[in-house]
Amino acid sequence: MLKPLVDPEYLKEIEKARRDLRALIFNKKCAPIMLRLAWHSAGTYDVKTKTGGPYGSIRNEQELNHAANMGLKIAVDLCEEVKAKHPKISYADLYQLAGVVAVEVTGGPTIDFTPGRKDSLESPPEGRLPDAKQGASHLREVFYRMGLNDRDIVALSGGHTLGKAHKERSGFEGQWTREPLKFDNSYFVELLKADSKDLLKLPSDKALVEDPAFRVYVELYAKDEDAFFRDYASSHKKLSELGFIPNNGSILVKGAIGFAIASTVVIIGYLLELSRKTN
Ligand code: HEM
Repeated sequence: MLKPLVDPEYLKEIEKARRDLRALIFNKKCAPIMLRLAWHSAGTYDVKTKTGGPYGSIRNEQELNHAANMGLKIAVDLCEEVKAKHPKISYADLYQLAGVVAVEVTGGPTIDFTPGRKDSLESPPEGRLPDAKQGASHLREVFYRMGLNDRDIVALSGGHTLGKAHKERSGFEGQWTREPLKFDNSYFVELLKADSKDLLKLPSDKALVEDPAFRVYVELYAKDEDAFFRDYASSHKKLSELGFIPNNGSILVKGAIGFAIASTVVIIGYLLELSRKTN
């Protein structure tokens, strides 16, 4: 049994915000930058120190000014429109919900969303997000620090099926796929092609085909979109819940059920013993 972490009123507000986000993201064609906001908000997590992560601190000017976050103020400001209509919702939930909706409205998989993240204003130190100029060992260092694995790295990199790089933001220019507002497996298809010279391939994208362990997943996702969607949805959920324990409600419920069963067994034993004595 799963016990929600939030009250019914909050859940209702989440569903309203989800609808507003759908309309906003569709109208403004801002799915790519919303997904990038959700990812940069969560991707600072450090599993050892339990710092960083999807807790809304990216709205802090100081964190927003980290070099990796150039341009994300646009997405933070767009989310503010939804926050103004649904002030109850935490920024932490709002940014992650925006990421989930961005994937869905562009044709990607449905991603399970559990609300209940609390806001934090404590920003992680700069330098926790991956550097596009580096290769496989750097990607592993960064994603393993979050508590994620090789499959997560490749599946999540498929987020580059959306959007483009902007010279004035990252120093890179260009898009990864021919339809940057459609979430599909074309990022992997293009990555394996040698002749798509007009499309962007960051050094960190190339690392996925050069590293043999990563390449296995690139080849799988290029030929099997269902496999990509299934793994992407699962890795995206993991990313959006780093350091968040959405199941602690169910653990409590399970604990209570366990206690009730144990107590019943003791009581029945006692009654049996009693009836044996009285007979
Ligand atoms: C694996 C390491 C990654 C590196 C090194 C990386 C690097 C970059 C860079 C350099 C840009 C261009 C930013 C700009 O100039 O506007 C970008 C954009 C983007 N990234 Fe990543 N990224 C990574 C992983 C991810 C992940 C995991 C996701 C989502 C699941 C993601 C989603 C996006 C999206 C949607 C954009 C386009 C934003 C726009 O069009 O405004 N990236 N990334």
